[in-house]
Amino acid sequence: MKLGSFTIEGRAALAPMAGITDLSFRQLCVDFGAGYVVTEMVSAQGLTYKNYKTNQLMKLSDSERPAAIQLFGDDPDYLARAAEIAMHFSPDAIDINMGCPAPKVCNSGGNAHGSGSALMKDPELCGRIVSAVKSAVSIPVTVKIRKGWDKNSINAVQVAQICEAAGADAIAVHGRTREQMYQPSADWEIIAQVKQAVKIPVIGNGDVTDAKSAAALLEQTGCDLVMVGRAAMGNPWIFREIHAYLTAGTILPPPTLNERMLVMMRHIRAMCEDKGESRAMREARKHAGWYLKGLKNAASFRRDAVQMETFEDMERLVQLVMEQRETE
Ligand SMILES: Cc1cc2nc3c(=O)[nH]c(=O)nc-3n(C[C@H](O)[C@H](O)[C@H](O)COP(=O)(O)O)c2cc1C
Repeated sequence: MKLGSFTIEGRAALAPMAGITDLSFRQLCVDFGAGYVVTEMVSAQGLTYKNYKTNQLMKLSDSERPAAIQLFGDDPDYLARAAEIAMHFSPDAIDINMGCPAPKVCNSGGNAHGSGSALMKDPELCGRIVSAVKSAVSIPVTVKIRKGWDKNSINAVQVAQICEAAGADAIAVHGRTREQMYQPSADWEIIAQVKQAVKIPVIGNGDVTDAKSAAALLEQTGCDLVMVGRAAMGNPWIFREIHAYLTAGTILPPPTLNERMLVMMRHIRAMCEDKGESRAMREARKHAGWYLKGLKNAASFRRDAVQMETFEDMERLVQLVMEQRETE
């Protein structure tokens, strides 16, 4: 898929996930075949007030390209200023969050409208935001929207058209309303409707759980790229699996236990290098829990994982996991 002047390889992107898609995880997903990654959301208001140099969330590495920085806010001027600041981190695109359902985001913002998915209640404001950010930067500007705010205001098509007219270069659509949060299953039909209604690339999102569902989302909606969120947690291999299935029709076997443990250690080691061991290990506990999911005695290993303080604690845990396999 083309986005501005760059090409996204493959058909799968990593969705932005606050607290999860940090530099280390994005890098891992790119290594396994994600063609495009987006940072965790960054507050436009926070950014314009704080020293941006300290903003860890926006740090991008050269080997995770193309990559977008995602901003949230509700004030066109703040968002434009924040996009200018974000440019110091050399993103390939700026993505605007119009989908987050969290009350602390929906009730926040410089002009008291509300950010994230609350923006969809005011399509005209969505358009003003896109044009303000477009005027501030010379790289592609994308938006990530939901189906609508609630079942009485399903307006993804309208918002997508307004954003396109305002200059958006691509639109990611999560097929759920704000009211639905992350359940029940995503409505892919709305993604197909958006794809029909705009000329810019459309990124389909919601409920891609494996290679076959990625192929189904592409086929059923005609979208240009699929975006994988929760199914990538503790499972960066999903990008390799999607690629193999889409290019050769091959269903790859799941990673071996050995590979799972090696990749988990690589992921968490990178987090320690990036953030310092103490903070990284606290954040790594949840990742370890996901990598250990489905193993025999997973509950007991996960109890150990939530207490990890040091990288050595994790090495000991991996040793326990491997020893158990040898005794089977
Ligand atoms: C823990 C978590 C954090 C998220 N953070 C963000 C975020 O920062 N920005 C955003 O646009 N969406 C965020 N999302 C939504 C995801 O990007 C995605 O739209 C949603 O999970 C649906 O895709 P999935 O079914 O593949 O998980 C988050 C989702 C989860 C589960």
